[in-house]
Amino acid sequence: MTLKRFQYPQEWIERKKQKIPISVVTCYDFMMAKWISRTEIDAILVGDSLGMVFQGNSSTLPVTVDDIIYHTKIVRRGAPDFFIIADMPFGSYQASKEKALMNSFRVIKETNCQALKFEGSDEFTLDVIDQLVRSGIPVMGHIGLTPQSFMNFGGYKIQGKKEEQKKVLLEQAHKLQNVGCFSIVLELVHSELASKITKEIQIPTIGIGSGNGTDGQVLVIYDLFGMDPDFTPKHAKRYANFSEIGIDCLRKYDYEVKQKLFP
Ligand code: KIV
Repeated sequence: MTLKRFQYPQEWIERKKQKIPISVVTCYDFMMAKWISRTEIDAILVGDSLGMVFQGNSSTLPVTVDDIIYHTKIVRRGAPDFFIIADMPFGSYQASKEKALMNSFRVIKETNCQALKFEGSDEFTLDVIDQLVRSGIPVMGHIGLTPQSFMNFGGYKIQGKKEEQKKVLLEQAHKLQNVGCFSIVLELVHSELASKITKEIQIPTIGIGSGNGTDGQVLVIYDLFGMDPDFTPKHAKRYANFSEIGIDCLRKYDYEVKQKLFP
């Protein structure tokens, strides 16, 4: 099935109506963006997960606006006609509304991405998103286990098992829809609740570790490829084992140089 490549956020909502799942993958570099651009994947997220899988930090907190701009520009070069969402990193939108708007405008102007993603749905963040949407910037929400505030969650645990949490998450999804988000990432949300949210709201839900009842899925490309020899998150599926292939190539190269077999 060949589908028209997303250009505008409204097409995400149309896709939900057609009940055709949306595939999203993260990307941080030129070559992988080139690979993605040869597929039917619907959109690329330049996620702040780059702080962990690309930069080797233990969380996403150290990622800066400059990092996001740097990587999004590179990804844009590899996938010129893709719908690209840039993640707003920790500290880029919490200090004040003015700073949040200035950082957001900067990312849009400098990267040529189509949309921004924000974690959370507290009143302040909703106000920022509302203003951005009114200014013409498409925004993707992100609730559930939001990694920028992983400290508050006491670790990477499934959210929405308890009645109280269910109510809160459902309300958050509605609030994000009401301020004009075109889509919402549901991260580590209990699958029954993720399905319920998906049925209740009109904008597409993109799940990660939230079961198969969402309107689409997003995976971190390094997890999908099996790039880390030591770790794969429980929710991820390794479609290949690139770390094994890579390490094997390096060993062969080392052997051949030392044996004078190469060049
Ligand atoms: O930063 C990221 O890659 C993300 C996805 C996991 C949704 O936010």
